[in-house]
Amino acid sequence: MSRMLNAIVAVCPDLGIGMDGQLPWHPVRLNNEFKHFRKMTATPSVEGKQNVVIMGRKTWFSIPEKNRPLNNRINIVLSRECRAPPAGAHHLAPDFSSALRLVETELAERTDQVWVIGGSSLYKELMQFPGTRRLFITRIMKQFECDTFLPEISLDKYRLLPQFPGVPHELQEENGIQYRFEVYESIDELCI
Ligand SMILES: NC(=O)c1ccc[n+]([C@@H]2O[C@H](COP(=O)([O-])OP(=O)(O)OC[C@H]3O[C@@H](n4cnc5c(N)ncnc54)[C@H](OP(=O)(O)O)[C@@H]3O)[C@@H](O)[C@H]2O)c1
Repeated sequence: MSRMLNAIVAVCPDLGIGMDGQLPWHPVRLNNEFKHFRKMTATPSVEGKQNVVIMGRKTWFSIPEKNRPLNNRINIVLSRECRAPPAGAHHLAPDFSSALRLVETELAERTDQVWVIGGSSLYKELMQFPGTRRLFITRIMKQFECDTFLPEISLDKYRLLPQFPGVPHELQEENGIQYRFEVYESIDELCI
């Protein structure tokens, strides 16, 4: 069975997503942006199921310890080096395919949506993965210094949706920082 895969990320104009293991705008907090992340990733469409979040080891450790694991979600951490899940994580997988296999086997009955939540290499893998994918992008309209980046979104492979249920369309602003929510969907390769 192939499940729709989702990724969610907030990016600076140069596609920067992180700096020194934190968000680029740290210590500024974008609380409503974070609420959007939580609403999208933690709300299953099927009652009684939970969504899965898949993340790289550095993204896991970028989450404040008190917020780990991300609640109401099954947290899978990817690492080639770790031999056991980091404290608090629900599952460890050695690569992206193994994580998806885990979702479709052991976790299949209780899982609804799959969300990739970072970092760079996982976004890249998701964007190149076969099947239908959606990218939930927050365009932060202010540049901060970044050392970690989102790969370019190819408009041959993804189209920007005019709107998406539950995702505000209008310009957002918090702490003097403007941003906009966008949703991209993979173009069905059979239709090209
Ligand atoms: N703006 C946003 O929305 C957003 C979202 C997420 C993260 N971030 C930021 O991005 C930064 C972290 O991202 P990052 O790209 O540097 O690191 P990352 O992808 O979170 O973590 C990298 C580590 O994860 C493991 N890993 C990644 N892909 C793997 C794969 N396919 N198979 C097996 N293991 C895999 C490896 O761990 P081992 O070394 O243990 O093998 C790798 O060294 C932080 O600054 C964070 O704040 C921002």
